[in-house]
Amino acid sequence: MAKAEVYYFSGTGNSLVLAKLVAERLGGDLIPIASVVDRERIEPVADVIGIVFPVYYADAPNIVRRFAEKLETTEGKYIFAIRNYGGGAGDSLKTVDRILRSRGKALSAGFGVHMPQNAFHKPWEIKKLAYRRAPKRIDFIVRSIGARRTGLFYSNVLVQAMMAPFQGWLRRMTALYLEKASNTPSGSGLTVEQLMPLADRSFAVDEKCTGCGTCARVCAVGNIEIVDKKTIWQNRCENCLACFNWCPTNAIHGALANTGYRYHHPDVTARDLAGQSGALT
Ligand SMILES: Cc1cc2nc3c(=O)[nH]c(=O)nc-3n(C[C@H](O)[C@H](O)[C@H](O)COP(=O)(O)O)c2cc1C
Ligand code: SF4
Ligand code: SF4
Repeated sequence: MAKAEVYYFSGTGNSLVLAKLVAERLGGDLIPIASVVDRERIEPVADVIGIVFPVYYADAPNIVRRFAEKLETTEGKYIFAIRNYGGGAGDSLKTVDRILRSRGKALSAGFGVHMPQNAFHKPWEIKKLAYRRAPKRIDFIVRSIGARRTGLFYSNVLVQAMMAPFQGWLRRMTALYLEKASNTPSGSGLTVEQLMPLADRSFAVDEKCTGCGTCARVCAVGNIEIVDKKTIWQNRCENCLACFNWCPTNAIHGALANTGYRYHHPDVTARDLAGQSGALT
């Protein structure tokens, strides 16, 4: 039996790199959340269970919430989460903990790692610095897991404290933004979580699309179908921007992806990403 099971979700590779590092250091298995999330129950066998994910809109991605809602563990297991983010990480760890607690479980420990922003260009961001610092942060995390430390260990205490009073406001602003992105009438009353899957309504391809299918293969949740070389989104989008960032001809446009900025972790390939859903390029 593996000593640990490290579950991850990733759109542009940052979470995958971190999850791989942690799994290697713990001598554990690396498992894509997308490969198990549609099961009725998720039942890890290892005593140490990790969840590694990117922060979306200052909170946890929908797929991570669904994962936490289905995670079945017995007492005594050590559950940790590692969020990674490009600026402010909001309530993402508390959300995972809250979902687990609502089912009689809890996060043993939560950690954060600052990584490059994948959604928009930050002129002041030094990506190489983030890549250099990440393994050191992972050292601390792995040591903490080894010592079975408990609690939330924020990597950005100051930003966390500064943003805390604005979390509710931020989520309301995000809902307004996503209403627009998903062509939903404003004042719909839908939550961020309900609007996120619909944001792909704004996605479209231009004449540069070759029908190569890479976007469909890197989409961890099978949200893209290619019919007659045409790309069709299915309105169950995780907003991960994998399709946008891995398209070899930059043919995809949309409300979430209109800045001209492209990013993926330099050590990760489209093939690595496609491993999440089992579709290899
Ligand atoms: C839709 C979306 C929303 C995001 N929201 C936030 C955010 O609120 N705060 C933040 O610090 N980073 C945010 N990010 C940046 C990612 O969390 C960050 O770049 C992460 O490392 C990406 O991980 P991945 O490469 O595994 O997908 C967002 C990214 C996307 C695509
Ligand atoms: S990855 Fe880009 S070029 Fe290939 S099918 Fe998708 S949109 Fe078209
Ligand atoms: S459609 Fe694109 S943005 Fe949405 S989940 Fe799939 S890859 Fe991510």
